Amino acid sequence: MNKTVLITGASSGLGSEFAKIFAEAEYNLVVVARSKDKLEMLQDQFPDSEIKLIVKDLSKPGSASEVAEEIDQAGIQIDVLINNAGFGLLGSFSTLSLQEQLEMMQLNMVTLAELTHLFLPGMIERNSGRILNVASTAAFQPGPMMAVYFATKAFVLSLSEALAEELAETNITVTALCPGPTKTNFGAVSSMDETKMFSQAMSAEQVAKQGVDGLLKGKRVVITGGKNKAGAVAAKLLPRSTVAKVVKSATK
Ligand SMILES: NC(=O)c1ccc[n+]([C@@H]2O[C@H](COP(=O)([O-])OP(=O)(O)OC[C@H]3O[C@@H](n4cnc5c(N)ncnc54)[C@H](OP(=O)(O)O)[C@@H]3O)[C@@H](O)[C@H]2O)c1
Repeated sequence: MNKTVLITGASSGLGSEFAKIFAEAEYNLVVVARSKDKLEMLQDQFPDSEIKLIVKDLSKPGSASEVAEEIDQAGIQIDVLINNAGFGLLGSFSTLSLQEQLEMMQLNMVTLAELTHLFLPGMIERNSGRILNVASTAAFQPGPMMAVYFATKAFVLSLSEALAEELAETNITVTALCPGPTKTNFGAVSSMDETKMFSQAMSAEQVAKQGVDGLLKGKRVVITGGKNKAGAVAAKLLPRSTVAKVVKSATK
């Protein structure tokens, strides 16, 4: 029997690359996002794959349990969970909309934690499962001009590493994927496209492949690209106030 992967934010960027990798590996897919038309394109692209679409705004409280209920009612077991949906906003904390920043926190952190909490018990019962949480290299330092986004990714990294250790004696792995700038719709949504940070972005295909390789090996943290790995090491060594200054200049 084919295994099933649940991918949030599968309608573009990294999420659609994850979907392609798992469809090609003959997994059944459950894909979630708001854009129905883009999710349907995956069905058109992989007509032989079993792909269930769930059109849902995951920034709404309660949306994670609605997704789990729909999956449960369809009698689907989730073997691999990829918490990928997320977005960022560029601007100072006080001038960015509070409502949008709260929605970001709900999507990037709360929904991710809820989905993990909803699907983990089944994995524990079967003593089998893999979880990939998409964090970011933003997780390693404070991010002036993207303060809330960086903080949400620090949450994702910390939660993922803690869960990986809680589950160390089981056959369930939790991987935090930490990409640096990557060519997806993220740059346009977050207004980051024109910043120095995005001048040498990696391809979504490359990043998704490294993420899935790490997931299948059960790695706890995957940082994509040599430059991003070096940046993560530097962020650990330098004073936090210095790192914050460097990030502030890069987000210009
Ligand atoms: N690109 C980068 O440079 C970069 C770097 C580090 C980490 N990341 C992380 O990578 C993940 C994927 O982003 P991406 O780069 O692939 O960007 P993207 O191309 O903008 O994709 C974001 C995905 O999330 C979905 N999404 C956004 N808001 C949603 C909502 N309210 N409800 C449900 N789905 C929602 C989008 O689908 P709909 O719009 O159809 O809902 C889309 O499928 C994010 O967590 C992001 O923070 C990206």
